[in-house]
Amino acid sequence: MKDMRIAERTVDSQTSKMIARGVQVHYGTTHALKDVDVDILDKTVTAFIGPSGCGKSTFLRCLNRMNDTVASARVTGRIELDGEDIYDRRVDPVQLRARVGMVFQKPNPFPKSIYDNVAYGPRIHGLARGKAELDEIVEKSLRKAAIWNEVKDRLNAPGTGLSGGQQQRLCIARAIATSPEVLLMDEPCSALDPIATAQVEELIDELRGQFSVVIVTHSMQQAARVSQRTAFFHLGNLVEYGETGQIFTNPTDPRTESYITGRIG
Ligand SMILES: Nc1ncnc2c1ncn2[C@@H]1O[C@H](COP(=O)(O)OP(=O)(O)O)[C@@H](O)[C@H]1O
Ligand SMILES: [Mg+2]
Repeated sequence: MKDMRIAERTVDSQTSKMIARGVQVHYGTTHALKDVDVDILDKTVTAFIGPSGCGKSTFLRCLNRMNDTVASARVTGRIELDGEDIYDRRVDPVQLRARVGMVFQKPNPFPKSIYDNVAYGPRIHGLARGKAELDEIVEKSLRKAAIWNEVKDRLNAPGTGLSGGQQQRLCIARAIATSPEVLLMDEPCSALDPIATAQVEELIDELRGQFSVVIVTHSMQQAARVSQRTAFFHLGNLVEYGETGQIFTNPTDPRTESYITGRIG
């Protein structure tokens, strides 16, 4: 990561939880992300929208170094979490991902019990001092993910036996269990039916009281419903970023306008 001085800054008096400057990603010879600057505000839902292949997932994966696991990916620029460079040599990506959690498009519970899915992170990070404390973290996480009532009587049943919507809320509980400061969600509802989608959207709104949520969505309606900030990506560029209401009603860039009115996409 090249070194760059970044001014302390706040937007609308809200603190920036994460700051990205000049972020570029190449996969081999594919230039997937071009010079992206963005501030992720604390306790805010930020939506990334844009046509398929524009770099939304690529950028999301930069925020918790998931691209480290992609052999061909090369990330440059600077990304800070609370003012610290997350690509610094001293940062352990596993520790980072406990602070910047992730939920994927397809629910992917581990082939373990419901309990062990949620207990996994706290166990590997040593967050509980005993069984009682671990039980408490598991219950709290399942409650926050709005699935406790549905699973409390079968915590030892396999997570993979739940419905799709329940599996996704279980995965959210798993991500919440390490008390993340930022939760990244890559099209978390695209495999869910409308009822499960509505439940997850409601949950996202509750979670932002506790931490930042960044959601990639191909649904502009979803972005409008759940987010306070929206970033529009196109061909690897972050074209426009601002308040969700402004992006959808009064975009400044003609490319944003074309996308939201359905002319590109
Ligand atoms: N693992 C990968 N290897 C090579 N190219 C990739 C990889 N992931 C994404 N890309 C390419 O990077 C660009 C952006 O992809 P992506 O971030 O997945 O877009 P989006 O999430 O907006 O649909 C596309 O051209 C895609 O083909
Ligand atoms: Mg994607």
